[in-house]
Amino acid sequence: MDLPYIEPYKIKMVEPIYRSTIEQRKEWIKAANYNLFNLKSDQVIIDLLTDSGTGAMSDRQWAEVMLGDESYAGSSSFEKLKTTVQRLTGYEYFIPTHQGRAAENVLFSATVKEGDVIPGNAHFDTTKGHIEFRKARAVDCTIDEAFDTTLIHPFKGNIDIAKLQDTIDAYGVERIPFVLITVTCNSAGGQPVSMANIKAVSELCGSYEIPVIFDSARFAENAYFIKTREEEYTDHSIKQIVHEMFSYGDGMTMSAKKDGLVNIGGFIALRSEEIYRSCITYNIMYEGFVTYGGMSGRDMGALAQGLMESTEYDYLESRIYQVQYLGERLVEMGIPVQQPFGGHAIYIDADRFVPNIPKEEYRAQSLAVELYITSGIRSVEIGTLLADRDPDTGLDRYPRLELVRLTIPRRVYSLSHMEYIAVAIKNVYDTRHEAEHGYQIRWEAPIMRHFTVELEKKG
Ligand code: F0G
Repeated sequence: MDLPYIEPYKIKMVEPIYRSTIEQRKEWIKAANYNLFNLKSDQVIIDLLTDSGTGAMSDRQWAEVMLGDESYAGSSSFEKLKTTVQRLTGYEYFIPTHQGRAAENVLFSATVKEGDVIPGNAHFDTTKGHIEFRKARAVDCTIDEAFDTTLIHPFKGNIDIAKLQDTIDAYGVERIPFVLITVTCNSAGGQPVSMANIKAVSELCGSYEIPVIFDSARFAENAYFIKTREEEYTDHSIKQIVHEMFSYGDGMTMSAKKDGLVNIGGFIALRSEEIYRSCITYNIMYEGFVTYGGMSGRDMGALAQGLMESTEYDYLESRIYQVQYLGERLVEMGIPVQQPFGGHAIYIDADRFVPNIPKEEYRAQSLAVELYITSGIRSVEIGTLLADRDPDTGLDRYPRLELVRLTIPRRVYSLSHMEYIAVAIKNVYDTRHEAEHGYQIRWEAPIMRHFTVELEKKG
């Protein structure tokens, strides 16, 4: 008999979970105005809000915390991190920041101006926010296959080369400071981008001398998918794949809270000294001196170690295995989910799950609230609330996909937690016909409303 799969680690420290009752959760979610961001963490049994900064560090990372050099300038922890990033990416110039959006802020301050256009694959919301804040535009060139949750395609994060060409033709090279490739593509469901596609984007951009920048939050998970889905790369190590991926670009922003395996941190890495020089002033203004940029020495040491661990095949296999396990259980139970499964999360298709709730009443949010009440699982809406209103008409923007994201933190939960999640969702699925109404907005902020929106029950 084949031995079953096991995680390639054992547990040294545990954190208790308070198991609340349905009655308690009904009270708490009402007091939270039906916004899951307003819950306290001890009101949550399994927290699938995000995989960002929620992972567990290894013993070697904790050892790095003790070795942290807290010198203001030129700390050995900075040198360790810089060398690690240079080796992994091949980019010479390195700037630490406190998280991913800070890296965006610094890089875009140096490169994006009013009227510019940044083509890419479904830009993440903070990325889009930083582009639009500068009165520039993010143009989504993701392949159409990404928007059909039932269609199986190995690389749904790919950029459509024809759409990219059309965007370049429509706006002109001088208005495009760079093309942004997000690996994996979070907004399209944690979907990977193939090496062939990265190469093709790089070639097209190269012919116009447009730089290619990676939004790299989940670059290691992307490399795992390249290894397991792109035949040529089967025998390559993850580190070789990572190096090759970045070789087709000119730089990267990084939210280290994901594939850096740390709770806070980020950075920019670049090939061009010129762009680096224009970034460092902004870094000093917004983040801190160039050798710490918002991170303590111990954070930088733990991140250097985290990057080495997240680019190990065994770690990635167990990470992706857990996410796929949950996805497969849900498919077996007939739950409509985005397929193939993403690297960091399973996305439930709320339009197919609760079509009976009017779309004006926020289907995905309604489903996320119901899942919380019945099981204590906190998921996150990636749908109409997140999409905000159209700035011109003031009306809700209905995105092409109305999703609930079940985001799996790294090295935190076990397969029995996955089983709990699967059964909890099945229970909601079995009673889905009873739901007739969702929610209406009582108060909302003018932008990024989903974080603070206050809702009330409709009907
Ligand atoms: N880029 C991508 C692809 C992201 O997923 C995120 C964050 C960021 C940039 C911004 O990084 O949070 O460190 O400032 N995504 C988190 C999420 C918040 O839940 O998906 P940050």
